[in-house]
Amino acid sequence: MSSPLIKVSNLTVSTSDDNRTLVNSVSFEIAPGEAVGVVGESGSGKTLTALSLLGLLPRGVQATAGSISYDGKDLLHTDSETLRSIRGNKIAMIYQDPMTALNPVMRLGAQLIEVIESHEGQSGDATERVLTAFSDVGIPDPKRAYESYPHEFSGGMRQRVMIAMALLLSPELLIADEPTTALDVTIQQQILALVMHERRKRNMSMLWITHDLGVVANLVDRVIVMYAGRIVEVGSVKDVFTNPQHPYTAGLLASLPKASDKNRTRLVSIPGIPPKPWTVGESCAFSARCTRADDQCRTTLPLLRENSSTQAACFHLMGEKR
Ligand SMILES: Nc1ncnc2c1ncn2[C@@H]1O[C@H](COP(=O)(O)OP(=O)(O)OP(=O)(O)O)[C@@H](O)[C@H]1O
Ligand SMILES: [Mg+2]
Repeated sequence: MSSPLIKVSNLTVSTSDDNRTLVNSVSFEIAPGEAVGVVGESGSGKTLTALSLLGLLPRGVQATAGSISYDGKDLLHTDSETLRSIRGNKIAMIYQDPMTALNPVMRLGAQLIEVIESHEGQSGDATERVLTAFSDVGIPDPKRAYESYPHEFSGGMRQRVMIAMALLLSPELLIADEPTTALDVTIQQQILALVMHERRKRNMSMLWITHDLGVVANLVDRVIVMYAGRIVEVGSVKDVFTNPQHPYTAGLLASLPKASDKNRTRLVSIPGIPPKPWTVGESCAFSARCTRADDQCRTTLPLLRENSSTQAACFHLMGEKR
């Protein structure tokens, strides 16, 4: 693999007041042009991991260990001015709710102009670039969009505006945090196709976060599965889908609707709920829900290990006899 664009090592995020661990020793790399999916149930630490990359962790939580190496800098220990210049310019993010990124009382054109000028100063062709950005993301009347306010658009169109804004400065890495979950299925498909097209065109790296393994199947090269704040499995999209080794990943796959099922109903979901990450201690966080678990799983923390398919943090891989 060529040298990574970004390398996250042992990232740990904890609450500031009572030091509860929310993200625990997470390590991964993203290569230039590579698309990586992060999958896991609610609360598994996907968003906090992504926000760490942007230096945008919310109030009340902080990175307490690890490093994020990008362009010779450690983003966890760099000044806010450097972070600000990287955000939007080199690493951009799209969110589930476009209003996280958009200002409700400012015309859309002016908002995108502001993005350009905040990084590049006055730019003679800024208006032209914004209109092109709108047209690239399939907004039918870019001139009208330029003069409009966010509330004058549908959810799907607002999503396109946010994507145009994120791509405006040609970032090297686009982070997408569940940007399609609030949209209806047809619009979801359009947004996914749009992002895939732009990614290929720009050879941009991508980190795509979702609770739905089905979404990333056709979208990414590699998949990271998170559970209770840790990575439990990572592998190529092909290996993870055809030969998952962690029982949790296998469970997620079993709960996906089959293409042959016309009603697209979810058949089996994994019974139970994930534990809070800080309560797990020296055990496998999945052991309470796992049909393969034994005493070792309840008393020892499994670490990621190579196997014939992926890397998985499990003592009893799916490929091993039980
Ligand atoms: N500001 C905060 N203060 C305290 N705890 C927080 C804060 N933000 C998130 N958490 C907790 O950290 C854990 C991980 O949260 P995170 O938002 O990263 O999960 P997620 O995988 O993105 O979940 P979802 O699928 O629901 O978006 C959760 O237990 C959450 O309650
Ligand atoms: Mg989230």
